[in-house]
Amino acid sequence: MPNSSYIYSFKHDVHHEELCKLESRQLFEEELNRVLFSNTKIDPSISAFITNRFEIILSADDYDTLLEKIRAENIHHPGFKAEYTVLEGDPMEYPERLVRSRDIGTIVGGKPDFKNPVIIYSICKFNDVWYFGILVKRKTDWRKHQNKPYSFSNSLDIHIAKSLVSIASNGNKNVKLLDACCGVGTVMLEACYAGLEIEGCDNNVKAIINTRNNLEHYKYSSISYYSDVKDLTQKYDAAIIDLPYNLYSYSNDIITTNIIESVVKLTSRVIIVSKSDIEAVINNFGLKINDFCNVEKRGRSSFKRSIWVCEKEN
Ligand SMILES: C[S@@+](CC[C@H](N)C(=O)[O-])C[C@H]1O[C@@H](n2cnc3c(N)ncnc32)[C@H](O)[C@@H]1O
Repeated sequence: MPNSSYIYSFKHDVHHEELCKLESRQLFEEELNRVLFSNTKIDPSISAFITNRFEIILSADDYDTLLEKIRAENIHHPGFKAEYTVLEGDPMEYPERLVRSRDIGTIVGGKPDFKNPVIIYSICKFNDVWYFGILVKRKTDWRKHQNKPYSFSNSLDIHIAKSLVSIASNGNKNVKLLDACCGVGTVMLEACYAGLEIEGCDNNVKAIINTRNNLEHYKYSSISYYSDVKDLTQKYDAAIIDLPYNLYSYSNDIITTNIIESVVKLTSRVIIVSKSDIEAVINNFGLKINDFCNVEKRGRSSFKRSIWVCEKEN
């Protein structure tokens, strides 16, 4: 029986598999394998891929023993709901799941609230072990950002943007982030949604106006600088750089170099996104690459972004 406090479930499109694994390595220091058992407590709503967190209260090798253990706890919670959690690989059909959730519902005391429960007690099975616990589901309304009023062809997919924020913050809500090349603010929207402090910067006036309009549209308040990132002076816990994309020409290599060099002066943790292989450039700045993945664009295997998670070496 795993000695963990939480069970996490994940869902992702095929082309986001590597990013989902990278996020899980950064948040939990381990890679997910179907489901993830961990002692790290993460709010599922900060991730683009975590669907829910199951907080283990009790476990048993057989179902009846688990029910006995739950009875012995004398749990009473008005407004509760009981629900079966299907973990990947669990073949249990709906009618049987319903029976199991009803079993829990009759043991827990208090008037249930099926529509707006204050707590969800849940039961699940993994590798022949039964678990009882509290289920926390992710919120999904961040997907409203898909319809942000201003976008452009180089805007990041919102799943990538959300994942970059959770990777940059490492699941910590008390951090100050920088979106160094914010474009229309795709990354900033996800950070604001997650309740993180973030500032943005772009040297293109149209991009900054669009960022501000997008933030205002969702009633988020966050500072965005119309500036070259080299002129920023604030310090940040981490920065995300979604580099400009025409990087193969000589002049754009210089742009890349200048942006990374400027950002490294402002923070010690940098998440870099680029369409081309800039590993050699990253190595020039005293940055240690501690993780990496490629992300393909849905339906376009020729369009690939790379993501490097870097820390400044002391
Ligand atoms: C790939 S786009 C970022 C897209 C953004 N992540 C989004 O989803 O909207 C790169 C941005 O970097 C900006 N940029 C280029 N050089 C810059 C610099 N030196 N300082 C700040 N921004 C810069 C460009 O104007 C462009 O908007």
